[in-house]
Amino acid sequence: MNLKPQILKFLGHNEPYCFIKKAIGNQALPNTPVRGQLSMSELNLPKQLDLKIDKYLLEIVKILNEPIVNLQFNIDSYDLENWSKHLAFHYDRGARFTVLATLRGLSNKFTAIIPINNIIDHLPDKKVALELCKAQYGSELNLSKPNFPVMELHCGKYVLSSSIIDQGLEFKDLIGLNKKAQEALCTLLSTITLLDEAILDKEITQWPKEYSKFGAVGFNLLEGDILILNNKMILHGRTCGYVEIPHLNRWLRVIFLGRV
Ligand SMILES: [Fe+2]
Repeated sequence: MNLKPQILKFLGHNEPYCFIKKAIGNQALPNTPVRGQLSMSELNLPKQLDLKIDKYLLEIVKILNEPIVNLQFNIDSYDLENWSKHLAFHYDRGARFTVLATLRGLSNKFTAIIPINNIIDHLPDKKVALELCKAQYGSELNLSKPNFPVMELHCGKYVLSSSIIDQGLEFKDLIGLNKKAQEALCTLLSTITLLDEAILDKEITQWPKEYSKFGAVGFNLLEGDILILNNKMILHGRTCGYVEIPHLNRWLRVIFLGRV
């Protein structure tokens, strides 16, 4: 499959995500190792990008034109009790884009995204967003850097500020200059927690239609699927659930692209 037109559209239209179903077409993926009780290091996963799906991953990296800041060959959501907790909504620190490629999927596991702009719609007071755009935060991690806002308005939509993403900061790293700004940040964080509980902390086998009222989209990533996330525009997380066959858990390769 030629991914270039789809990725260029994603970039050109400033879309928050790009989902590519079965990117590798009908090519067979390699048999993935059975994890069972083995640790990640015992599994001895391939440490190089030389699987079939990696050719597409590397093509995407080239088109996105950002340096690789991190790379993980992880199997996620495994634990011995077979029950996996939800992964709360977050952005990947220090990464402009996150690219997930699925080597092995799970029918009852959903990666979810919610645009920052939709989170604003759920704030009790919309002035909070304006406050977060004008408030000048600092960071204990980068005291020498100039202060910056949490959010920016881009083409009429609220997005996270480039400073937060590019400096690799989390919300908890920010130092507010005034009480109003701190309160606005607390409101934003408690709204995200409410969305975590309403959307992610549920065991589901299908993505419920009513989640569209939150603007949340769920992807049941299956073998060969690739999902690209723009961390400035959306938060992502993962639903909780019971993994019937833990040794056949999801296997994702994840590349983080950014400027740190
Ligand atoms: Fe993440």
